[in-house]
Amino acid sequence: MYRYDEFDERFVRERVAQFRAQVTRRLEGSLTEDEFKPLRLKNGVYLQLHAYMLRIAIPYGTLNSRQLRQLAVIADKYDRGYGHFTTRQNIQFNWPKLRDIPDILELLADVEMHCIQTSGNCIRNVTSDHFAGAAADEIEDPRPTAELIRQWSSLHPEFDYLPRKFKIAVTGADHDRAATKAHDIGLRVQRHPDTHEIGYEVMVGGGLGRTPMIGKVVREFLPKKDLLAYLEAIMRVYNLEGRRDNKYKARVKILVHEIGAEEFTRRVEAEFARLDGASVNADPEEVARIAAYFAPPAFQTLPARSTKLEAYKAMNPAFARFVENNVTAHRAPGYAAVTVSLKEIGAAPGDITSDQLRAAADLTERFSFDEARISHHQNLVLPHVRQDDLFALWQALGAAGLATANVGLITDIIACPGLDYCALATARSIPIAQAIAKRFADEKRQALIGALGIKISGCINACGHHHVGHIGILGLEKNGVENYQITLGGDATEKAALGERLGPGIDGEDVPEAIERIVAVYLAERREGEVFIDAVRRLGLGPFKAAFQTLTGQEARHAAA
Ligand code: HEM
Ligand code: SF4
Repeated sequence: MYRYDEFDERFVRERVAQFRAQVTRRLEGSLTEDEFKPLRLKNGVYLQLHAYMLRIAIPYGTLNSRQLRQLAVIADKYDRGYGHFTTRQNIQFNWPKLRDIPDILELLADVEMHCIQTSGNCIRNVTSDHFAGAAADEIEDPRPTAELIRQWSSLHPEFDYLPRKFKIAVTGADHDRAATKAHDIGLRVQRHPDTHEIGYEVMVGGGLGRTPMIGKVVREFLPKKDLLAYLEAIMRVYNLEGRRDNKYKARVKILVHEIGAEEFTRRVEAEFARLDGASVNADPEEVARIAAYFAPPAFQTLPARSTKLEAYKAMNPAFARFVENNVTAHRAPGYAAVTVSLKEIGAAPGDITSDQLRAAADLTERFSFDEARISHHQNLVLPHVRQDDLFALWQALGAAGLATANVGLITDIIACPGLDYCALATARSIPIAQAIAKRFADEKRQALIGALGIKISGCINACGHHHVGHIGILGLEKNGVENYQITLGGDATEKAALGERLGPGIDGEDVPEAIERIVAVYLAERREGEVFIDAVRRLGLGPFKAAFQTLTGQEARHAAA
């Protein structure tokens, strides 16, 4: 894991002291909320519906047990005993008191964490594949790249006041688990087809929100050594030409859309040619120094398949189901990556209690070389577990209420905080997620349906990624009543696509039934082994729309009665 040096440590401590003084002035009344706002946003402090909210960065989603335990301390002492993992590898606390936030920041600094650049118009936390360094299909661990970008972008003076926020994601495998095409910049590590040299495919202009777009490729192959200079060129073009007159048109995706990907690429390449690459790019020694922190842990030499695991699976069907759904192939023989679902039926997606944080810390230490990850699906990952240990881990997870075996299934729902917390929300999202999960709670039925991702946002800002959900749900408000639009066919992977609307919005209470009808069409029409999203692609929206209309038609009759 990367370790921060004395400079980082001193900087973070100074920042905490500065913020402490600013909070004191706000509480005394010498700063108005308007004056205070830009200062708090520099430190991850939002004003929500009921209280302040603190967003803590988890760079590329990697955490150790000390950090997990510290988050538990913060949850108990300063919040209501839980935290919330977000879709961008951050954790949020929903109930801190403003006067306590400097103390929380101090506790975070003790374990090399902070909230800098988790809000505001700057380059945000750089995210990555949650199986980085573990995935069997990986070309290269994307985290050294993400860390390099983190260092370059943190407090970069030129990019401290961008037209709008800016999000970068990196994936090291062909299968994109980091939603790179839904980011302002997405980087995909790849090998050059002829030289086999490692470099990046660079995509710009993806994003969700009110104008969703899929990122466009601006450079098919960028040599690794040129990374920072190329990013600098992109940021310069955006910083100079991105719109500052209209907040809703200020993201880089709008610039790319308005001038066209080709023209945007031309301007970036011209800037790249003009700037002094050598002074911007990291020197190879620094790159190697960073990469060394991400060296694989000391894996044992093990057989590829564990006979112990097979025996336990044969004996215990619930464990076999857990392995089927929550365990992923590892690059090291005899190991596996385990996803710990934070989607227990009826729970708020992504919430974790302080007891669970502590249990996760213990298990991370005991079973996973002291490394855990946060996934953008709002789940926790133990990336390096011996297959021989999976049964013991599963039992311990069960004792902590963390053994829900639904990863990737219909109840593994992504949802933003919505109207339960968020000041911008037009509708609730957490209760909708809970109602759907309860409706589909039966494990056999979930297994029958197979892989299906539902994503829910409580307003057009799309924090719950609904546009790229296989089924997307967007909560709006119509004549003072919450109203939900359903989209179908979205995808956040390398086959990224935006979902299309099925029909008019429906009432919240009808959403589980709408999902039921969509699923019924899939089950009736699917081919052998065909997952939901592939069936939607093959069938098109027609049959799903027809089934959906029976629901909205019924509604009209109710209204008339
Ligand atoms: C709680 C207070 C929150 C506020 C006030 C807030 C605000 C916003 C706004 C205004 C946007 C649209 C920005 C734009 O398109 O320029 C947005 C997008 C987004 N937010 Fe949030 N958000 C909040 C919480 C969250 C949470 C909890 C998550 C994760 C679960 C999240 C993840 C995202 C993501 C992934 C996007 C889409 C980014 C994109 O368009 O590229 N946000 N948020
Ligand atoms: S999508 Fe809307 S309701 Fe949900 S967290 Fe984002 S801003 Fe709030």
